[in-house]
Amino acid sequence: MLPQLYEFRDNVVRGASIALGDVVLDVGCGDGLLGIGALPRVGDAGVVIFSDVSTDLLSRCRELVTELGFSTGAVSWRPVYQTFPRYRPGPWMSS
Ligand SMILES: C[S@@+](CC[C@H](N)C(=O)[O-])C[C@H]1O[C@@H](n2cnc3c(N)ncnc32)[C@H](O)[C@@H]1O
Repeated sequence: MLPQLYEFRDNVVRGASIALGDVVLDVGCGDGLLGIGALPRVGDAGVVIFSDVSTDLLSRCRELVTELGFSTGAVSWRPVYQTFPRYRPGPWMSS
């Protein structure tokens, strides 16, 4: 995550009006810039679902969430094809 993007991230998350207990789906989460910004807002009663087609980026996102000290009880991980089976990786990815 690039620190230069934190202000952008904070503006996006603020604009989403996320409240305690909400369930947030971050599709195309990458390494988690936006979803991680949402974590403090949903609190322990909420969930942020991180979803990306790249399992490498999802792994990096998971590392960052742990490094930043967030409770993983409020986190869910989804390769995007589990959430949206239509996007299961296939030959289309290399075209
Ligand atoms: C420009 S990055 C944005 C990452 C992150 N949301 C952020 O703001 O830093 C786009 C992300 O979308 C993911 N992506 C691309 N195609 C996707 C698809 N069909 N379904 C889910 N994620 C996808 C990429 O792997 C990449 O992590």
